[in-house]
Amino acid sequence: MKTIGVLTSGGDAPGMNACLRAVVRMALHHGLRVVGIGRGYVGLLNREFVDMNHASVSNIIHLGGTILKTGRSPEFCRPEGRAAAASALREAGIEGLVAIGGDGTFRGADALWREHDFPVIGVPGTIDNDVYGTDATIGFDTAVNIALEAIDRIRDTATSHDRLFFVEVMGRQAGFIALAVGAAGGAEMILVPELEVSIQEIYETIESGVERGKTSSIIVVAEGDEEGGALDIAHAIRSMGSLECRATILGHTQRGGHPTYRDRILATELGAAAVAALLEGEAGKMVGEVDNEVVRTPLPETWGKRKPFDQRLYELARVLAA
Ligand code: F6P
Repeated sequence: MKTIGVLTSGGDAPGMNACLRAVVRMALHHGLRVVGIGRGYVGLLNREFVDMNHASVSNIIHLGGTILKTGRSPEFCRPEGRAAAASALREAGIEGLVAIGGDGTFRGADALWREHDFPVIGVPGTIDNDVYGTDATIGFDTAVNIALEAIDRIRDTATSHDRLFFVEVMGRQAGFIALAVGAAGGAEMILVPELEVSIQEIYETIESGVERGKTSSIIVVAEGDEEGGALDIAHAIRSMGSLECRATILGHTQRGGHPTYRDRILATELGAAAVAALLEGEAGKMVGEVDNEVVRTPLPETWGKRKPFDQRLYELARVLAA
């Protein structure tokens, strides 16, 4: 293999740039040519190709976002789109691809590999941490820390006003961010899609806290929760009694900013591991880190198997918040 391509796709995540730096520099170290592909699969179809050198990834290890930009491509979801993408890659002399992103990125990467025999290695880059085959995804730690800082700030005002706050965090259909933030922030309740809790139960938990003398509370809500978002739940709780409550949606603030130490190291390790995998002739796999070891997982397992929800931490947080 003489030339590899690299792209970032789906929602950006802090640490993607650190990962790009590792991919490019490790590939150059092995004498490979590296082509950066702009805007994920969108740019691949538009042939947004640029040769990367050592300097292309200088001074980016600390930056959020992705210098290659990212995108979500409906065209690439269709077989004709993937056929065009395989031709574009081959015509540019690219023989292997590193795709950094989440499950949508991996579904596309797997199809490209299976349908066109094009070697692709995935690297998990998403704040959601909803990918099987790695303990953490690149960006998760930073997103959790950003949300945690926001929760600490909200606690100051919640305490001062004796208020109840519903704070909504991202995570798509998974509650990994909510659990981490809620447990580390001492939230009175954590609402996640993995566990069903009715509005009535939420109301009763808050009321019993009030009876025990709690004057303020913070409830972390995962955006994918069954009972709706923070605004819906706050509205429902308000209509059930005299509790004064507010809702805050942290939204995209969780996706920006400098990556943490943990995300930079994870990105560095996995970027280098992706290049090593391609050089060893691997394809159709994702590199991840499990128990501090780099592992390779077949791409379909990364979305087909469910990453276990940490029920023990959830219970611990619940008991300690009572
Ligand atoms: O997958 C990352 C993520 O930030 C999710 O947590 C969220 O549901 C989604 O992307 C938001 O997507 P968009 O940036 O397209 O609004």
